[in-house]
Amino acid sequence: MRILHCVIPAAGLGTRFLPATKVLPKEMLPVLDRPAIQWGVEEAVAAGAQKMVVVINAGKEMIQAHFTPQPQLEAVLEARGKTEELRSVRASDHLASFDWVHQDEPHGLGHAVLCAAEVVGDNPFLCLLPDDLSVGATPVLRQLHEAFGQLHTPILALKRVPKEQISRYGCATVAETRGRWHRVTRVVEKPGAGKAESDLAIMGRYVFPSSIFPALQRLKPGVGGEIQLTDGIAALLAEGEVWGVEFEGELLDVGTPLGWLETNLRLAAKHPKLMV
Ligand code: G1P
Repeated sequence: MRILHCVIPAAGLGTRFLPATKVLPKEMLPVLDRPAIQWGVEEAVAAGAQKMVVVINAGKEMIQAHFTPQPQLEAVLEARGKTEELRSVRASDHLASFDWVHQDEPHGLGHAVLCAAEVVGDNPFLCLLPDDLSVGATPVLRQLHEAFGQLHTPILALKRVPKEQISRYGCATVAETRGRWHRVTRVVEKPGAGKAESDLAIMGRYVFPSSIFPALQRLKPGVGGEIQLTDGIAALLAEGEVWGVEFEGELLDVGTPLGWLETNLRLAAKHPKLMV
């Protein structure tokens, strides 16, 4: 079955990047020449998605404006013969179709994904957290979509991290392994220091069946008093198999000042016009 939707939660407060994100949505911070979230949308499109479902909250309307035609700007660029600039401006609103869903209360990542239920309907969907940017030959979300095409189960992106870092992430315990694919037996959101069962972190890329929605709906608040996406995945594990892909390539953090700076430098070094 072909997947068309990609849910992009973008309703976080951006507390890891204050004061830059006091007013500016963190998703709009530029990475080289485009906002961080545009890199995410481009990855989702490269993974086969055509319909973006972006979950925003009050104050994030600028994200919506970025993916909407701006006729006045286009007219000025056209009149001045700035064809390359015009092409880049038009590119962002022609990438995909967009649905904008509002999360009115900050109840956590699982709740944000649940807000997309009505638009996604009874379809499997991709999910991408735009705090990380995929670099490498095959976009991470595409590697997950390919695994879904064969396994037909929920799919998680997995990465081995040093033991002292695992408590920042959802942690997956795995059993059976087929190359880079691992069958997941247990998931725990942000396990306390020394309590993690493995060094496999769940990174911000997923493929979900629509059954994640009723699972999220039933959840009680978890770590941090929030509805956790990882707890929704644990509920899916009770219903059937879940697989993880230890992906090739890298996910680069753009959600903290240091990560953002390093990512810009890494990408600039490869960019023909920006080499530093
Ligand atoms: C979220 C998820 C967590 C995952 C992480 C990946 O956490 O809840 O399971 O490992 O994204 O970046 P957050 O970074 O929002 O605290």
